[in-house]
Amino acid sequence: MGNPIQARSSSFHLLLFSIALASDPSCPLEKHQFPYLRDDQKTALLQSKQEFIRSDIILWEPETDYCLWEGVIWNVTTGYVIGLNLSSKLSKPIYDNSSLFGLNQLQLLNLAYNDFKFTPIPSGFDRLTYLTHLNLSNTCFSDQIPREFSNLTSLVSLDLSSDISCTPILDSVVELRRPKLESPNLQGLIQDLTSLIELYLDGVDLSSQGSDWSQVFPQALPNLRALSLSRCRLSGPVHCSLSQLVFLSQLRLDYNHLRIEAPKFLRKLQLSRCKINGSIPSSLANLTQLTDLNLSTNAFTGSIPLSLANLTQLSFLDLSFNSFTGSVPLFESISQLSRLEYLFLAANNFSGTVKLDMFGNLENLKILDLSNNQMSLEVGNSTSSALPNLKSCA
Ligand SMILES: *[C@@H]1O[C@H](CO)[C@@H](O)[C@H](O)[C@H]1NC(C)=O
Ligand SMILES: *[C@@H]1O[C@H](CO)[C@@H](O)[C@H](O)[C@H]1NC(C)=O
Ligand SMILES: *[C@@H]1O[C@H](CO)[C@@H](O)[C@H](O)[C@H]1NC(C)=O
Ligand SMILES: *[C@@H]1O[C@H](CO)[C@@H](O)[C@H](O)[C@H]1NC(C)=O
Ligand SMILES: *[C@@H]1O[C@H](CO)[C@@H](O)[C@H](O)[C@H]1NC(C)=O
Ligand SMILES: *[C@@H]1O[C@H](CO)[C@@H](O)[C@H](O)[C@H]1NC(C)=O
Ligand SMILES: *[C@@H]1O[C@H](CO)[C@@H](O)[C@H](O)[C@H]1NC(C)=O
Ligand SMILES: *[C@@H]1O[C@H](CO)[C@@H](O)[C@H](O)[C@H]1NC(C)=O
Ligand SMILES: *[C@@H]1O[C@H](CO)[C@@H](O)[C@H](O)[C@H]1NC(C)=O
Ligand SMILES: *[C@@H]1O[C@H](CO)[C@@H](O)[C@H](O)[C@H]1NC(C)=O
Ligand SMILES: *[C@@H]1O[C@H](CO)[C@@H](O)[C@H](O)[C@H]1NC(C)=O
Repeated sequence: MGNPIQARSSSFHLLLFSIALASDPSCPLEKHQFPYLRDDQKTALLQSKQEFIRSDIILWEPETDYCLWEGVIWNVTTGYVIGLNLSSKLSKPIYDNSSLFGLNQLQLLNLAYNDFKFTPIPSGFDRLTYLTHLNLSNTCFSDQIPREFSNLTSLVSLDLSSDISCTPILDSVVELRRPKLESPNLQGLIQDLTSLIELYLDGVDLSSQGSDWSQVFPQALPNLRALSLSRCRLSGPVHCSLSQLVFLSQLRLDYNHLRIEAPKFLRKLQLSRCKINGSIPSSLANLTQLTDLNLSTNAFTGSIPLSLANLTQLSFLDLSFNSFTGSVPLFESISQLSRLEYLFLAANNFSGTVKLDMFGNLENLKILDLSNNQMSLEVGNSTSSALPNLKSCA
């Protein structure tokens, strides 16, 4: 559904993008009122279609009303294409010489979920100097991320992440082709992208940055709100300089080799599969804004610290698959987290007999998983009133 829109401010772009693509397909304005979609833009779109777009699902035709062209947004004043959503719509990889790179007023470009079949990212993106949102997630590209990405200084949101389907943990062949930031390295890429508020690099090899990786963000990206770096081969500490990122509310670092130390303002912290050992550091209690904490599948030992009770906003807590020990009284801190909805403590070394009454303060609790411990569970007779929302208990 193509649809002309006119935006007032760049901060609304993402919102407008989704609204525009979801709204009435008919052109709301009389054709003669505006220069409409320029001919050179139509030509570039139709050429792109011929070059790499699946013609069975993208039905742009020269003779159909381009108001109905799906995934295209243009500026009604200038007639230039400013947004293109081609997520899952490509038939072939894009080459350096593609007509796409002629759409040089593009601000929003979504190419997510197209299979680049482990080829490198084509060059040409530096011609799109107005890009604010670039999404190449799950495109299975490989090799060095092009240097020219560091020229896209208007970027607000950059998504180069891939999930396990592109970089399976144990497949060494794929591992060799994994996308990476070596030259330029992480710092080289981001140092001029000072407008970024969202950065997703999951699956990109960032190991060349060394253990000072967490120090490069505060200086370059002061406005960052979301940072996602799972499976990036990071090592060393999560440096407390990250706490200078005062707007950061989401940090994802799972599947790395890290030590924990995180900024105070975080609301969501995912540090599972980070090979962290030792006991939970007392500094965790400083993260009083946390609503979601996932420390599963590490090598934590020791008991659950009493200071956990300070995380009063927690609604999601996953400590499963560690080697935590301790018996029933040690749940004292958890039982004070009255907002908890999901509590996963499975596959640890907790012992003793747990009575559900002990979780009596957790009236919002929906899921409780205590399985695979040295612990027995006594349901008792008071559960239904004490835990009114409990749906699942193991
Ligand atoms: C459309 O173009 C006009 C004129 O250049 C500009 O003022 C306006 O901000 C543009 N709108 C968008 C959504 O880019
Ligand atoms: C882009 O298209 C995909 C697939 O059609 C859709 O799931 C997604 O919501 C779209 N993105 C935006 C920002 O509209
Ligand atoms: C673009 O590059 C590809 C691969 O290098 C080539 O096959 C194709 O002919 C080129 N297209 C144009 C229009 O030059
Ligand atoms: C990128 O696009 C995919 C598919 O449309 C979507 O799931 C994902 O959330 C997008 N990333 C960002 C940062 O918006
Ligand atoms: C990209 O940035 C580099 C360094 O800032 C500069 O030398 C180069 O000319 C820029 N390239 C383009 C195409 O703007
Ligand atoms: C954690 O692991 C490192 C290296 O694997 C080791 O040197 C250190 O002693 C361990 N610490 C604890 C508390 O087990
Ligand atoms: C975190 O809490 C500890 C006490 O457990 C305190 O010594 C430390 O200064 C705090 N750190 C920050 C960054 O607030
Ligand atoms: C946790 O809260 C207790 C009081 O409830 C306070 O004495 C303690 O200093 C807090 N710990 C941290 C690390 O903030
Ligand atoms: C915690 O994170 C791990 C790894 O990303 C994930 O497998 C697990 O499902 C998460 N826990 C929950 C309860 O979602
Ligand atoms: C759990 O505790 C038992 C007995 O205290 C001990 O033998 C075992 O090694 C512990 N397992 C783990 C994974 O810590
Ligand atoms: C639970 O059952 C025990 C005896 O089996 C009884 O003494 C106790 O009052 C009951 N508690 C509630 C809340 O019904």
